[in-house]
Amino acid sequence: MSIPFIDLKAQYRAHQDRIQERIDRVLEHGQYIVGPEVAELEHKLAEWTGSKHCITVASGTEALLMSLMALEIGPGDEVITTPFTFVATAEVVVLAGATPVYVDIEPDTCNLDVRLLEAAITPKTKAIIPVSLYGQPADMDEINAIAARHGNIPVIEDAAQSFGATYGHKKSCNLSRIGCTSFFPSKPLGCYGDGGAIFTDDDALARALREIRVHGQSERYVHTRIGVGGRMDTLQCAIVLAKMERLDWEIAQRLEIGARYNEFMDSAGIRRVVQRPGRTSVFGQYTVFVEKRAELQAQLAKAGIPTAVHYPTPVNEQPAYRGLDAAQRHPTPVASAAAQQVMSLPMGADLSAETQKTVCDALLQLVAG
Ligand SMILES: Cc1ncc(COP(=O)(O)O)c(C=O)c1O
Repeated sequence: MSIPFIDLKAQYRAHQDRIQERIDRVLEHGQYIVGPEVAELEHKLAEWTGSKHCITVASGTEALLMSLMALEIGPGDEVITTPFTFVATAEVVVLAGATPVYVDIEPDTCNLDVRLLEAAITPKTKAIIPVSLYGQPADMDEINAIAARHGNIPVIEDAAQSFGATYGHKKSCNLSRIGCTSFFPSKPLGCYGDGGAIFTDDDALARALREIRVHGQSERYVHTRIGVGGRMDTLQCAIVLAKMERLDWEIAQRLEIGARYNEFMDSAGIRRVVQRPGRTSVFGQYTVFVEKRAELQAQLAKAGIPTAVHYPTPVNEQPAYRGLDAAQRHPTPVASAAAQQVMSLPMGADLSAETQKTVCDALLQLVAG
């Protein structure tokens, strides 16, 4: 029997009654766009993360793009980010007309290497987008401190994979000027389509983001700025509301499953992504470093165990992105090496200890053999 990479069906079954009830309510009231569930979800998410404002949006990508638009970033500006991320992080910089500048990653966490950040800042730097990769917050305190020293450069946390993670006593999404997350179905908090959210404590930014979300409209048919059609629909908000009822349990499960994987990898001598003290990862992905990856993946697939690669190519080595980054000022050899070795294993709050043991046993047999 094949193991799912992430068991969304089991998750649905656990939430089924609540979700159905919520969906029925939306279908009955009929406010499919900007229905009451949108404000209800925004209020709950702001409270949950400790942020002053939450603006739900059409996707994680839209959240990042709209953030750059609200900061009025455009041609001639540079935005610093990591090359080891899903393409959307850099894509939005290019869509905004700005230039991405890549800073290499740490070899053990795969997050942006803060020791290299300062050297990448120029007078043109208008934002920094660290990614909290695989569910673990990047070095946000150090990044914020460097940004503050250089004229308060806005920091946008790409928290698409890290909703629910903690950093000291704070939650991911609420660790810098702006936090952006995704509700893509496989994310730690997912909907059943596309969705995302932006978090900020800044009143002016929140106002701008709410206008940008509806075509730059400040009042009906008055367009005071350039915007997008960036709303998250009421049904998706209703689904996230239903799923929030089990969120704390799901996060606790993720931490437990991640810790069990860690223990196993350490005893088997398999190199894994490391978690820094003082912060928790929600293990958006559980990722190890392996040699001869393609071969190992094929053997695991034969044993019914799916794996994935996040990501096989750093963004700055992608065909469409080569040469777009400020004359490739900073080499990123650590990201290039990681891209050859990373492999993600089945993960999710509904992964049973028994199934996890099957994954680990198969991995050990293949790595040892
Ligand atoms: C790091 C990162 N940034 C941005 C995104 C984009 O989110 P979405 O798919 O909701 O547009 C993702 C989603 O895969 C992601 O993993």
